[in-house]
This record gives sequence, structure tokens and C-alpha cells, in this order.
Amino acid sequence: MSRNRIQVMHGVNLDQLERRDPAHYGGITFRQLEQAIDGFAREIGLDTRFFQSNSEGDFVEHLHRVRDVADAVVINAGAWSHYSRAIGDALQLAGVPAVEVHLSDVMAREEWRHVSVLADSCIATVVGKGVDGYRDALQVLKTKLSE
Ligand code: DQA
Repeated sequence: MSRNRIQVMHGVNLDQLERRDPAHYGGITFRQLEQAIDGFAREIGLDTRFFQSNSEGDFVEHLHRVRDVADAVVINAGAWSHYSRAIGDALQLAGVPAVEVHLSDVMAREEWRHVSVLADSCIATVVGKGVDGYRDALQVLKTKLSE
């Protein structure tokens, strides 16, 4: 059975992408972001499903269910990435390979953004490459799923 189902998870404030600082986020809309990710995935034979929430509890609940609907996860949890141990634990529990993505170069921004409490539960982290970072993340997962 081919394992190609990718759950893309966007956390808090990502749905407001078009209203956020274009210097960090490139001025694209959230819809454009999801369409681009879907296009990248199709190019390499992956099948995406999307989830976004501004509620940490809903985000955790979705991670609890994720192994029933997907083989791997791409996660950009927004600001939660920097402090939510609850999401870190839930990602660990999910038990599927995950790659963390940040559109902006978090290491070049405020110090509090330099830490990720999700990184330990991920096989790779991609930062500062904008939308193209998702292509890298999908490629990492494609390789992992074909091992
Ligand atoms: C972000 C970076 C986070 O620090 C920030 O809180 C976000 C978006 C990114 O994609 O660059 O909401 O995850």
C-alpha cells in the first residue's frame, strides 16, 4: 500500500496571512499558500489534506486523530511552535513523521522565536524559505515514506 497522505497543519493566525507583515510573509493569501502546497505535493505524487485552527485544543484534538487520516504531517503551528508543550506532546503522540515549516526566517527575528518546542518531534525543520519551504518539507517526507 502506498503511503502518500500528507496532513498539512496550520496553527494560530496563519489564516490571516494576507494581513500579516509582507516583509516576513511575502504578501500571499492563505488560500494561495494552500494551493501552492497542494501543487508541490501533486508534482511528487503526494496527496494533501489541510487543517487550520486558532484554537489550541482543536489543534491538539486533530493531532490525536491524525494517524487515522494521514501518513505524515507538515506543521506550521505559528506562535504556538515557540511555547506550546501541549502541541509538542500531541505531535509526539501522533506517531507519524513530521516536518516543521516556518515561512519567515525565525532565527533572524525576535529571540523568543528562535526556540521551537516542536522540533524534537520532527524529522526536519525548514525556516525562512517562504512558500518554497513547503516544497522542501514535502520532499523530505516523500523520501521518508518511501524508505
Ligand atoms: C511563523 C513564525 C512564527 O514565529 C509566527 O508566530 C507565525 C508564523 C512563520 O511561518 O514564519 O505565526 O510560524
